[in-house]
Amino acid sequence: MKDNAGTVDAIRERVDIVELVREYVPALKKAGRTWKACCPFHGEKTPSFTVNQEKGLFYCFGCQTGGDAFAFVMKLEGLSFNEAAEKLAQRAGVEWKPRAGLSKDETERQEIRRALEFARSFYHKTLLTAPGAARAREYLSKRGLKPETVEKFALGFAPDSSDFFTQAAQRSGYREETLLRAGLTGRNDTGRVWDYFRGRVLFPIQNHRGEMSGFGGRVLGDGEPKYLNSPETPVFSKSRTLFGISHAGPAIRKTGRALVLEGYMDVIACHQFGVNTAVAPLGTALGAEHARIIKRYCESALLLFDPDAAGIRAALKGAQILTEAGLFVKVGSLPEGLDPDEYLLKYGGEKFAAQLDAAQDAIAFHAQILLSGMKTPLSPQDKTRAADALMETVALHPDPIVRGEWTKFVTDRLEVSEATLTQRLSKKRAENAQPVSRFAAKTAAPPAPEPEIPANERDLVRFSLYSPCAAKLAQNLEEREFVSARAFALLRGIMKLVSEGAPEQSVAAALAERMPECAGLVARLATEPAPKSFEPERDMADCARNVRRLYLKRRYAQLTAQMKEFVRQGRDTSALRAEQCAIVESGRNL
Ligand code: UTP
Ligand code: MN
Repeated sequence: MKDNAGTVDAIRERVDIVELVREYVPALKKAGRTWKACCPFHGEKTPSFTVNQEKGLFYCFGCQTGGDAFAFVMKLEGLSFNEAAEKLAQRAGVEWKPRAGLSKDETERQEIRRALEFARSFYHKTLLTAPGAARAREYLSKRGLKPETVEKFALGFAPDSSDFFTQAAQRSGYREETLLRAGLTGRNDTGRVWDYFRGRVLFPIQNHRGEMSGFGGRVLGDGEPKYLNSPETPVFSKSRTLFGISHAGPAIRKTGRALVLEGYMDVIACHQFGVNTAVAPLGTALGAEHARIIKRYCESALLLFDPDAAGIRAALKGAQILTEAGLFVKVGSLPEGLDPDEYLLKYGGEKFAAQLDAAQDAIAFHAQILLSGMKTPLSPQDKTRAADALMETVALHPDPIVRGEWTKFVTDRLEVSEATLTQRLSKKRAENAQPVSRFAAKTAAPPAPEPEIPANERDLVRFSLYSPCAAKLAQNLEEREFVSARAFALLRGIMKLVSEGAPEQSVAAALAERMPECAGLVARLATEPAPKSFEPERDMADCARNVRRLYLKRRYAQLTAQMKEFVRQGRDTSALRAEQCAIVESGRNL
């Protein structure tokens, strides 16, 4: 342990945190003295994740995650300290002696991965050499896979035998318990064990670090189920896995775009034909976790879908999920109802690439499928329905420029006024942004005696009542930055009313009505005379800055106290230090 302490320092010194973070968050950009990006630890649309290169620390103002290079790798890859240290040591060219005791979970994950590695090479060898695998080899070659491709993806074959694999694995020293936990072996009621995969071609699945996590297995020819995937295990979760990512990662990073398909064979065929940015979820719908994996590599995604009803629905949902994650999304399909694998075999890579070029922007795709079911010219009712549906998609995009362009597109497509669409858009954005229930729960609680509202917070509310449109200058402030929860709630209430299009002069009254427990206060504030030479924009911005400055000061002091306590308890203070550095930095930028 002792000698490792020195090693930890050596690693810290040698690892450039900006370089490290950038591998996972390519969008990290220099902003003044710090580096900034959207936080990889929580979904967000404006960057609040900062990295301080000199100090070797990172911190996110949004989710308050922070620390040094070790903390970053641990959090992002879900590793233990020891695993992270091992990884960073390698990078830094420092020797790392593993601590004697791994935690129980770490040990298990390690054992499971080893068993999966064993299974991969065992099944691969079986495919290539076993006489009983002739049918599988024939099947793959009939499907057009070249030997290099079979090699690259380490495809395997599980013979149709009850315990061919389990026996071999046990002979090689893998414990039955590990094989069961790895999802490689099953056990029936009588305690008999059997191979989980039987009579199937196997597609090894790796996470983005290239570590084995599971398998997909296809029957040869017809049979049910067509694909059998590994069960969820400590190292495998379908909602967090994209097939092909370990192969496609570098190309996605380089080209800035991921190609998202539906199936194993599609991904493999793409790679064989040189389209090496292809990935696919594992038969589950594309989810937010998948989008986050993609977002680590690039800014854009192209989704290809089957042009049947189910495929179209899935594509729309998928496009929306990717859009919401902040990706620029295009959606395409192939002619003749072919899936990418079939198309590539029939027409080749060049034609395939041309088809990709014809993909539509997410909003154009949504408009097309929506309008294809409506009679032209559109009736007023259809226009309303279409406007509602399309603005749902528009509202999801985090970039205001894209939202603006998309709104124009919808204006042209539906021949409605841009102003009405913009109004709908603000409404939807407000609905999406407001944690309605939390907010409601808070204001519905029995009114506590009003503690003093600090002057700056009081002014924010007061000024917003005089000039409701200026309220948005405080929109970046978060609840925790306020001393008075009530001031925050009032401010949010005003912004909501504005976004709903309430006329300026009626905001105060509407607010009092919505928040009856604050009616007296609202009335008092709204009727106080404005300061002389009141300039809404300037004064709001000043107040907002002061509120933040005071919050940062309080938080800094709190951290100092906490740090003392941590030091006393011998705990790691790097996260606290990181937050303090970030505070100093953002104080400077105020
Ligand atoms: P498809 O039925 O489109 O199969 O399922 P495919 O990928 O084109 O496969 P081939 O070309 O017939 O061999 C798409 C994906 O859905 C998942 C798999 O991940 C598959 O690649 N799936 C499908 C399952 O998990 N189980 C199934 O039974 C079927
Ligand atoms: Mn197919």
